Amino acid sequence: MNAGLATASYIGATILFILSLGGLSNPETARRGNLFGMIGMALAVIATVLSPRVSPAGYAWIVGALVVGGAIGLVAAKKVQMTQMPELVALMHSLVGLAACLVGFASYVDTSIVFTGAEKTIHEVEIYVGILIGAVTFSGSLVAFGKLSGKIGGKPLLLPGRHWLNLAGLLVVLWFGREFVRAESVQAGMTPLIIMTVIALLFGIHMVMAIGGADMPVVVSMLNSYSGWAAAATGFMLSNDLLIVVGALVGSSGAILSYIMCRAMNRNFISVIAGGFGTGSGSPAPAAGAGEQPAGEVSPIAAVETAELLRESKSVIIVPGYGMAVAQAQHTVYEITKLLREKGVNVRFGIHPVAGRMPGHMNVLLAEAKVPYDIVMEMDEINEDFPETDVAMVIGANDIVNPAAQDDPASPIAGMPVLEVWKARTSIVMKRSMASGYAGVDNPLFYKDNNRMLFGDAKKMLDEVLGALRA
Ligand code: TAP
Repeated sequence: MNAGLATASYIGATILFILSLGGLSNPETARRGNLFGMIGMALAVIATVLSPRVSPAGYAWIVGALVVGGAIGLVAAKKVQMTQMPELVALMHSLVGLAACLVGFASYVDTSIVFTGAEKTIHEVEIYVGILIGAVTFSGSLVAFGKLSGKIGGKPLLLPGRHWLNLAGLLVVLWFGREFVRAESVQAGMTPLIIMTVIALLFGIHMVMAIGGADMPVVVSMLNSYSGWAAAATGFMLSNDLLIVVGALVGSSGAILSYIMCRAMNRNFISVIAGGFGTGSGSPAPAAGAGEQPAGEVSPIAAVETAELLRESKSVIIVPGYGMAVAQAQHTVYEITKLLREKGVNVRFGIHPVAGRMPGHMNVLLAEAKVPYDIVMEMDEINEDFPETDVAMVIGANDIVNPAAQDDPASPIAGMPVLEVWKARTSIVMKRSMASGYAGVDNPLFYKDNNRMLFGDAKKMLDEVLGALRA
């Protein structure tokens, strides 16, 4: 493939990636967006492999790597459960970071292209910054993977003087950057480069370890953004325009998503990065899922009574959370929704921006169950409607419906916007036990007079409710 055709293919791929991002912004066009992304990526890979910069001698290596990488990706995609998706995404981000580091070291020791003067300095700065971002992304994403998969506890690790440690790390990185650019030979430059890489790896670990459970949504989107910038940096190192553009697209869309997540959590980005949220007065939050001492009496309800209440209602709002994903209850939820709507009940869904474990988690599940988009409302669109609602049915959600976020300034989740289900005439919470949610805090909703607890696995309970509705 000649250089002109390669450039044209790159432009085509860039357009497809932009269309892909545009498509992903709406559930109705998301499938098409994914398709554009896949075609764009195939075009990008083919154009790169066949470009004049790759010699045919290297084809065997490239095909071998494609087969091995493709096989691993295929197995992972087939095996992964929907609830494990966020961990898989975090792991993928770590690979982007690792690739940026490896490409950085490879381009530094590569003597096939000789840079001189200002070009040499620019190339070295690209390498230094690329490896720096790549290493932070790599280690930070691995810790995020550990936290999301429960292999590492959700408690923030708050080292004494952690901000000073970060500042000292930054100054050392800057100083070694100067040493690196001034080095006369590759051998001399290798020491500052390796020291910076180790500091960046430690910084990535420290940064994500210091972030509390409730802030993980912001971390996931932030690492998504970092992986984009790491790819863009790799593009600079390799002088590959497509990689620069695609990296910048991923980096900036991840940054926008982080901003949206911060707004959803009512948090400021800098304070999230500084860590410690989810700890109240600074002491670590209890481990996620660990039940706390009950703070009052709860009123249980049976599936048959739940069906009765739903049947008699005029309006129902369903609030799904992580437990619906665990139980894979979305299809039964929709069966119930259809039945109630046929009986003239106004059934709608209230979606919190951080419900579940990844952005858009609930929307994906409901779309999979073919729930019409026009009855799936964002938190801001539906929160005012709870006082006129007969039943708010909470399915496997906890933190996102916790009134302590509004009422208790000492709560670790104080200030986080929540779905005000307690304002409905009756709220029904469907979960297996009194255990806390991801943020590890007790939920006063459970003890309210107008709240009922339907204990059990969400799928099993909803099957019983459906059976009773059909009876
Ligand atoms: P959570 O607060 O985690 O609550 C989920 C509840 O589901 C648990 O209390 C659990 O109680 C219940 N549950 C689990 N399995 C169940 C099953 N099979 N059947 C019925 N119930 C089940 O979830 P949420 O309300 O969706 O809030 C999301 C939380 O995750 C927030 O704290 C958010 O910050 C965090 N987070 C979000 C993201 C993104 S991007 N969305 C990423 C990382 C973290 P039982 O054990 O008693 O059943």
